[in-house]
Amino acid sequence: MDYYFAEGTLVWLRENEQHLPSTVSSCGGGVINFITNYGQVYTYKLNALTREKVLAMHPSSIEGVEDMATLTDLHEGAIMHNVHMRYNQDNIYTYIGSILVSVNPYKPISGLYDKATMEQYSNYHLGEAAPHIFAIANECYRCLWKRNDNQCVLISGESGAGKTESTKLILKYISAMSQHSLDPTAKENISNVEQAILESSPIMEAFGNAKTIYNNNSSRFGKFIQLNFCQKGNIQGGKIIDCIL
Ligand SMILES: Nc1ncnc2c1ncn2[C@@H]1O[C@H](COP(=O)(O)OP(=O)(O)OP(=O)(O)O)[C@@H](O)[C@H]1O
Ligand SMILES: [Mg+2]
Repeated sequence: MDYYFAEGTLVWLRENEQHLPSTVSSCGGGVINFITNYGQVYTYKLNALTREKVLAMHPSSIEGVEDMATLTDLHEGAIMHNVHMRYNQDNIYTYIGSILVSVNPYKPISGLYDKATMEQYSNYHLGEAAPHIFAIANECYRCLWKRNDNQCVLISGESGAGKTESTKLILKYISAMSQHSLDPTAKENISNVEQAILESSPIMEAFGNAKTIYNNNSSRFGKFIQLNFCQKGNIQGGKIIDCIL
């Protein structure tokens, strides 16, 4: 029995143990041609074997999702494709449940980290607005009181992935939120502490960083940053510990 795939159909092509997002470029005369999103061209004879090699792409993979826990196609290819599609639209953040996946854009994205965006995320719970590093920082800050327990954000990734920049963004957000609840009499003292924590980053980086082939500003030490808060929600102190890698 012959199979027919309409031209333009989006499919997963199973090649070399990978799932390649592809488009049917032509189908007829017992032959089918595919072009993958990464530019490779594949030609197969249209037979039963083709059916095993070609999987229909679910609409969630075609349209893209903000939370990859909702993807129906469950393989590495679907995750990479979703993140890639979003990256092309300057959506560098994507969730997998409560985990945030971030792709380094290596360029400033307009409005992504400005004051209005910070304000916006302070009004939402995790998952209610588009995926963002501020949503993670906000959840962490809120949970201090909601769960009445210490909170921790773990940032990992290869060299140049954006870990140090993400850390600074979390500190910037928490510092801004902490200032919201400031008691006017304590304002000067507390904002000095916050200022000191924010300003310590460039100094720490000046001593601890080096240019590598992966990153012009590569951290040569892992860092554990601890912030201490009072019951009113203000930062009262903090410490940064370098871990030798
Ligand atoms: N969110 C972002 N927006 C724009 N540019 C970014 C962002 N995150 C990182 N970058 C760019 O990528 C560079 C590398 O990022 P960063 O130093 O945070 O990587 P890293 O994960 O800490 O790497 P290493 O493990 O080598 O220390 C930054 O200097 C900056 O130019
Ligand atoms: Mg770093």
